[in-house]
Amino acid sequence: MNNLNLNNLKIIEEISYPYPIIIYSNLLKNNQLEELQASLSKEETSFDKTVMGNRRTILKGTTNFENFIKKNDVSRSINQFFDKKEIFEFFYQNLQNLNKKNPYNFYFSYKKFNFFKNFINRKSSKVLFKFKNRITKSLFSISNNCGVYCDFDFSVAGNGYAREPHFDSKERILNFLFYINNFSGKEGGNFQIYKYKQTPKEYIQQPSIKDLLIFKNLEPKKGSLVTFLSSPQSIHGVDKINNNKEKRYFFYGSYTSIKEIEWKKY
Ligand SMILES: [Fe+2]
Repeated sequence: MNNLNLNNLKIIEEISYPYPIIIYSNLLKNNQLEELQASLSKEETSFDKTVMGNRRTILKGTTNFENFIKKNDVSRSINQFFDKKEIFEFFYQNLQNLNKKNPYNFYFSYKKFNFFKNFINRKSSKVLFKFKNRITKSLFSISNNCGVYCDFDFSVAGNGYAREPHFDSKERILNFLFYINNFSGKEGGNFQIYKYKQTPKEYIQQPSIKDLLIFKNLEPKKGSLVTFLSSPQSIHGVDKINNNKEKRYFFYGSYTSIKEIEWKKY
C-alpha cells in the first residue's frame, strides 16, 4: 500500500524568521522515494517543459501528468494526499501558529476556506478542467470565503538550474517543496532563504539582490518536505547548479487562493 498518512509526519525544523518555514520528514518510505525517482528517470517519461535554466517539469492537469500518475502508484498517492482540505489546513495551521511568534510577519485574515479538488488554473490544462474551473470561479465570486486549490509539479533539475530571489504569485497561501533524493549543495541547488537588509518601502516580487541577505541555505535532503507561508516577505531562491553529475529530483506545490490575497502587517 502506498497510502500517505499525516500522522507519520515528524517535524524536523521550525524557522519563524524571516518567514515561517516548517520542515517535515517521514512522508514517504525509502522504497517509495526510489520508485518515484526511477519513474522520473525513465526515458519514456514525458515532461511538459524545461524552465529556469534546466528544470524539466510535469505539471498537474496536463496529459503528461495524467499518464505519469497512471503508471506510478507513488505519484498518484501524492496527488491524492495533497488534494484535500484537511491536509491544507494541517500545513496552514502549523505555519500560522509559527507566524504568530514573529510580530513583524505578514498575515491575512481569512478564517474560512472552500477547498476545490482537482482544480487546475493553467493555460495548458485540459479542456474539461478549464470548463469546470470557469463555473467554480464564477459561482465562487459571490462568496466571502477564501477559495483554495492545490497545484504542483514533479521536476528534475540539472546543471544550469537556478532561481533568482523572489516570492511566488500574490494568490499563493503556502508552498511545499519535497526532495526525492539527496543532492550535494556544494555545486548549487540549495533552497535559499533570504531576508531584507532593512524593511523595504515596497515589497516587490523580485527584489534586487543588493537589498537582501542570505539567511540560510537548505541542502536538498532525501525525503524532507519544506513548507513555508508565501507572503511578500517570503523571499526564496535556488543557487545555480554547476558541474554536478547528479540530478535534483523533487516536487514543488502550493495551496493557492482563487482571489489575490491581501497580506497585512501585524
Ligand atoms: Fe518560488
